[in-house]
Amino acid sequence: MLDALGPDLARQVPMRSDDSAPGDTAIGRVFETTENVHKLRHYFPIYQSVLTRTERMLEIGVDRGGSLRMWREYLPDATIVGLDISPKVAQYDDPQNDIHVRVGDQTDTSFLSSVLEEFGPFDTVLDDGGHTNKQMIASFQYLFPRLKPGGVYIVEDVCANYWTLYRDQRESFVDFTKWLMDAMHAHYQQMSSVYQLMEGHQKRVKEVRVPFATTIIDRIEVFDSVVVVHRAAESKHLPRAVFR
Ligand SMILES: C[S@@+](CC[C@H](N)C(=O)[O-])C[C@H]1O[C@@H](n2cnc3c(N)ncnc32)[C@H](O)[C@@H]1O
Repeated sequence: MLDALGPDLARQVPMRSDDSAPGDTAIGRVFETTENVHKLRHYFPIYQSVLTRTERMLEIGVDRGGSLRMWREYLPDATIVGLDISPKVAQYDDPQNDIHVRVGDQTDTSFLSSVLEEFGPFDTVLDDGGHTNKQMIASFQYLFPRLKPGGVYIVEDVCANYWTLYRDQRESFVDFTKWLMDAMHAHYQQMSSVYQLMEGHQKRVKEVRVPFATTIIDRIEVFDSVVVVHRAAESKHLPRAVFR
């Protein structure tokens, strides 16, 4: 990494802890009054910017139930669904308040399929589950193609990719994010010049074969420890170049 950064960016400088008052966000205010929840403070502005149209939310990782109550308060009209491998979380199932909890493994596609059948399609998925590389990638591979068009998929605690306890395979979610970036550009891999995209040009291509991912990834946002992948509202078309 340091070689790639070059000497100016690789220069070693101090980075300090900070106990100043956190920036004010509506979701941060809800967090302050919620018990039994575990989040990093800098996630709140990220949630606030991406959870703008949430109607059906799935959170992977329920633990002590606090985050489900936090989402309930912050998104009063949304259906909130939590899943967790631990049977202990069943106590947080609260259908009267439109909070639903199901017990199963985030890498088990038949379990995920049953959750989708019961409550999907989701417009928001938040992975705060086991945080191993395999878990993060397997859940994304199954749930992102089934996300509602226009929806968001949030993977948090990506910091775990850098901790050996969570490295159950060599490829990390950060590595996988680079593959998603390549997939987002797969149509360019079928071309050799901009003329193939140019309006009115004889070399313009009408169609290329690309992975499904290419047509549904609208954008990828990478924050400190959080990756947000936005699903396009409609299947994407080839870009058009204009030269005048
Ligand atoms: C970080 S905690 C969730 C915290 C909660 N979302 C919050 O904000 O307070 C992670 C949870 O993931 C669950 N978990 C671990 N492995 C899992 C798996 N394979 N499938 C589903 N849940 C899993 C654990 O049981 C644990 O409750």
